[in-house]
Amino acid sequence: MQYAGQAVSVRDAGDGLYEVVFDLAGDSVNKFNQATLAELRDAVAALQGSDGVQGVLFSSAKDVFIVGADITEFTQMFERSEDEIVAGLLEMNQVFNSIEDLPYPTVTAINGVALGGGFELCLATDYRVASTVAKVGLPEVKLGIYPGWGGTVRLSRLLGVDNANEWVCGGAEHKAVAALKAGAVDAVVDPAQLRDAGLDLLRNCIAGKFDYRARRLEKQSAIRLNQVEQMMAFESAKGVIGAQAGPHYPAPMAALKTMQKHAGLTRDAAQAVEARGFAKLAKTEVCRALIGLFMKDQQVKKTGRKHAAGAAPVQQAAVLGAGIMGGGVAYQSASRGVPILMKDINEKALQLGLDEATKLLGGQLKRGRLDAAGVAKTLTMIRPTLSFGDIANVDLVVEAVVENVKVKQAVLAETEQHLKDGAILASNTSTISITELATALKKPENFCGMHFFNPVHKMPLVEVIRGEKTSDAAVARTVAYAQTLGKTPIVVNDCPGFLVNRVLFPYFGGFSLLLRDGGDFRRIDKVMEGFGWPMGPAYLLDVVGIDTAHHADAVMAAGFPDRMTHEGENAIDRLYSLERFGQKNARGFYAYAPDRRGKLKKAPDETVTAALSGVVGAAREFSDEEIIERMMIPLCIETVRCLEDNIVASAADADMGLIYGIGFPPFRGGALYYLDQMGLANFCAMAAKYADLGPLYQPTTRMQQMAERGATYYG
Ligand SMILES: NC(=O)c1ccc[n+]([C@@H]2O[C@H](COP(=O)([O-])OP(=O)(O)OC[C@H]3O[C@@H](n4cnc5c(N)ncnc54)[C@H](O)[C@@H]3O)[C@@H](O)[C@H]2O)c1
Repeated sequence: MQYAGQAVSVRDAGDGLYEVVFDLAGDSVNKFNQATLAELRDAVAALQGSDGVQGVLFSSAKDVFIVGADITEFTQMFERSEDEIVAGLLEMNQVFNSIEDLPYPTVTAINGVALGGGFELCLATDYRVASTVAKVGLPEVKLGIYPGWGGTVRLSRLLGVDNANEWVCGGAEHKAVAALKAGAVDAVVDPAQLRDAGLDLLRNCIAGKFDYRARRLEKQSAIRLNQVEQMMAFESAKGVIGAQAGPHYPAPMAALKTMQKHAGLTRDAAQAVEARGFAKLAKTEVCRALIGLFMKDQQVKKTGRKHAAGAAPVQQAAVLGAGIMGGGVAYQSASRGVPILMKDINEKALQLGLDEATKLLGGQLKRGRLDAAGVAKTLTMIRPTLSFGDIANVDLVVEAVVENVKVKQAVLAETEQHLKDGAILASNTSTISITELATALKKPENFCGMHFFNPVHKMPLVEVIRGEKTSDAAVARTVAYAQTLGKTPIVVNDCPGFLVNRVLFPYFGGFSLLLRDGGDFRRIDKVMEGFGWPMGPAYLLDVVGIDTAHHADAVMAAGFPDRMTHEGENAIDRLYSLERFGQKNARGFYAYAPDRRGKLKKAPDETVTAALSGVVGAAREFSDEEIIERMMIPLCIETVRCLEDNIVASAADADMGLIYGIGFPPFRGGALYYLDQMGLANFCAMAAKYADLGPLYQPTTRMQQMAERGATYYG
């Protein structure tokens, strides 16, 4: 018996054993697109129709096993009615069930990544042997859905309720050894032995050494817990999972409830419950936004690869300034294997930079991500220095000294003299024009912005800023370096604040106006956090630093005087003049003190009311809706301006920049997606209500024209 398709083939492995091999033609990975699924169905039918088959191994000819379902097909699929979605799922379940029901043992050899639908296939076979480098998991909740091809049914029966809750509702990937411990795979072997181990397991089943039928029955039956045990397991998980997911992400809780609902049912009935719940999730706005987000992320990464095409990798980097940002860049570069010189003018600062890196590496050690040798190796890649000694060997320099045009220009000009031909200079400035900084340089073509966010090791975004004279080659190499550091670079054109800060400051502008009109900052924070922001604007200002914000506010006002200047003193000015700089000196809008683990904790500060007297107007009640509208309108309009002014190249770049750079609520898809969802006409009507608040609330002419035409940013 042989079957050969474009993605799936069946080969004779000798002695009655057959191997179903996944190898999607023309792609670097295996995924379950419609064509692959159709071939799988045919391959299984061919097996069913063949005599003499005694066991089947499922394997992959690529580095991955199967990365999951093809998410690009989801949008169209989820546009169907709930009933049609359910029917589609049950049809796929029949294929997976027919694998589970084959009259002989089945094993999956998991050689690499097996996620989502890819792992659900593994669960349909009797046993799973994983290579030491394999990773498995069910990440569907990250897309606002849950596993729909029997994953919630089989996993809860195989792993037990507690583990299954954690795996399905958390959506994490698990390394092979952890999967073995949880019972999600049955053996872990070296990659070279994987296939033989799988075939051996089949032979042992055939010889009766393993009772594969009992294994199978376990997956097909109800969960073996009595009513009370079931209730205890599921009800106690609800609090934890609800708190982890928060109010805006319904999928984890829906997954939990589905598993509870089908716990007492046998396979096919349980799958019907799973399918119904899946279809409901697939129709939600959150699911649509999260799938859209996945696509935008793919698009942004693809654009990044295009920008970086042909760039020689950075072999040796340098960073100027060993402060918060410089220290962070040094750590990130070293931990990604690119040696880096860390230059400062201050010995103490160098030590602080190294201490920070050591602390972060200590965390990796504690979490088991690095061993002691790895920590030592990474640390040797950071070379602190007070001189320009070895800078002639460097391919790319990140300048991260104080935010001051004159200082930066002097440092950049001096550095340039020591660099080899073709080396790139990149400034981590958060606000200063790259074109302006470039005027101090002899070779402005080799200069661009490389704007990291704080904390560098955590924040995924890097804005790469193209000045007027920046060459494509400089952009390419900087983008490539950001990718090597594991970041998502977005290339933007030069303007004050670039994309992220240019959009953030009008949002702070909206906040200042709310305070002026008598809003309470604690309530505004609460409402905006409820809207989905990781922190409200007052808390965010404290984290950014009131001094930093005050400085940037002035730069933005000078850059966009028509709308970003403000009359008189605002809350930021006041806190700045009182030296309440936020977290960095333990007092801003809130007070801060380290908790037992040394993490800064926010607390109410009674002195702030007096501190803000005169800049906060007579107290007035605002509805949640009004707070949200007054905060979001300036942010949305400024994002549109960035697109209209060609600061960003696409709506996806803008939205992902905001999500990765300032934590715009991901389930809302970004500012432009949010506008599309609301409809531009509705947005313009809403903005008109606030016209008296000034130009931050004035949609652009093009927005109004688009509103009239019913146009959208994503087409
Ligand atoms: N902190 C943030 O949240 C953040 C975020 C994004 C970008 N940035 C930008 O990064 C840059 C650095 O900010 P930071 O917060 O790390 O500042 P910082 O004050 O923590 O560090 C600046 C460091 O530069 C050193 N320095 C000053 N002059 C120097 C010189 N001539 N040569 C070498 N080193 C010199 C100082 O000794 C200090 O260690 C600024 O441009 C800032 O706008 C900061």
